[in-house]
Amino acid sequence: MTNVVILGTQWGDEGKGKIVDLIADRFDVVARAQGGHNAGHTVHIGDRKFILKLVPSGILRPGKKVVIGNGVVIDPAALLQEIDALEQAGVEVRGNLFISNRAHVIFPYHRMMEKATEQTPGKIKIGTTSRGIGPSYEDKIGRRGIRVAELVNGDHFRDHFRANAQEKDLLARALCIEEAWDFDAIYDEYRAYAERIGPFVCDTAGYLQRAIGQGKRVLFEGAQGTMLDIDHGTYPFVTSSNATAGGVCTGLGVSPVHIDAVVGIVKAYVTRVGGGPFQTEADGSVARHLRDQGGEYGSVTGRPRRCGWFDVPLLRYSNTINSFASLIVTKLDVLDGLEKIPVCTAYRYKGEVLRDMPALQHVLESVEPIYEERPGWVGTTSGLTDHDALPQGAKDYLRFLSDQVEVEFGAVSTGPERDQTILVRGSRLEKLL
Ligand code: GDP
Ligand code: IMO
Ligand code: MG
Repeated sequence: MTNVVILGTQWGDEGKGKIVDLIADRFDVVARAQGGHNAGHTVHIGDRKFILKLVPSGILRPGKKVVIGNGVVIDPAALLQEIDALEQAGVEVRGNLFISNRAHVIFPYHRMMEKATEQTPGKIKIGTTSRGIGPSYEDKIGRRGIRVAELVNGDHFRDHFRANAQEKDLLARALCIEEAWDFDAIYDEYRAYAERIGPFVCDTAGYLQRAIGQGKRVLFEGAQGTMLDIDHGTYPFVTSSNATAGGVCTGLGVSPVHIDAVVGIVKAYVTRVGGGPFQTEADGSVARHLRDQGGEYGSVTGRPRRCGWFDVPLLRYSNTINSFASLIVTKLDVLDGLEKIPVCTAYRYKGEVLRDMPALQHVLESVEPIYEERPGWVGTTSGLTDHDALPQGAKDYLRFLSDQVEVEFGAVSTGPERDQTILVRGSRLEKLL
């Protein structure tokens, strides 16, 4: 049975939530491998809107099983809030959600450390989501993190938590953090969370192994995007996990032999939230136009997203890392009405033409995009479901991008709703689904 990975190809917010929700009915299990509640995946179903942060978007399809893997960092308060909101909306979570016993837990001191370090004078400001994601992964890699199994079991949790809390207290003093922490209160709060989370917790790697063994189909839902990957992204302006294909294996305990294809989600233009290089960033009225038409405001923090033009070298790089079988283009409708659409086909740096993504941040920051201006189209693509109905100019734009990136476009999204999507007949994607 075909197991498919869905990934963001740019800097996140490509529309992964919409696509996962759309195709989840063809799978049995939807699993998340990394990130935390820094992710915000928006799903529109009729007049209802859901923003999923930790729970995989597949939960909105009745009867589907969803997994939060070991590679995810979990803030129990955020998770429980999300579960409560879903249940209030009539979504059945109990019996359908499985949380890894090996996932790491976010504590309030992680958020406090993040706030303090982001504000440290002289430090590069990443513009994080302030959810404690980075410091929690630091504790994981530093081998002092507290995992869900420990929280839920309770036996060693008190001692481990105390040791960590004391260490954070020392650090806080050194960093002149004035916030007072009541560790006993935090401990009690987390014991209460443990009671509620306990029933969802299991060895999810074993669960997935059994499901795959029984011939069930698994959809792997990526969070963030390739350029936010800790290894392959625009370091240091990245998140703290592997948002690329490899992260699926380590973040879920699933062997690569069980992954059949990787599908990338790509916006018809580019956005990014937070700091860092953005080669094709538009400014002024052009950026405002894209932001307004595309509703480009962060689903987690509400921050206005930076907007710019399609970047071919970035996508080619993203494909090098992930080997996409197919790409799904989203938000084509946002470009309706534009007379000309610039597409960046290469970069220029100190007079030299670069076709690949440079690794050095300062080089990336000073490259000059080389644009090819593509004509826009007359008419609207909004809500179209049939490829033949697309204006010729829109078809030409898609064909141009696909030729440049050298990957097929298997589907096109023309609006936020489930059915506002075109599946290209005869595509590899169609066969995979
Ligand atoms: P994710 O993090 O990749 O799941 O993406 P987000 O949900 O953060 O951001 C994507 C936004 O675009 C959401 O508000 C979606 O409802 C919306 N969206 C997704 N696909 C389309 C589309 O094809 N057209 C339009 N206009 N909006 C879309
Ligand atoms: P989804 O899954 C867009 C960005 C933050 C910041 C950087 C580091 O919805 O696509 P972090 O809090 O992770 O340490 O912040 O990463 N970032 C995202 N940007 N979409 C996301 O998720 C993001 N998750 C993190 O804005 O620049
Ligand atoms: Mg998002």
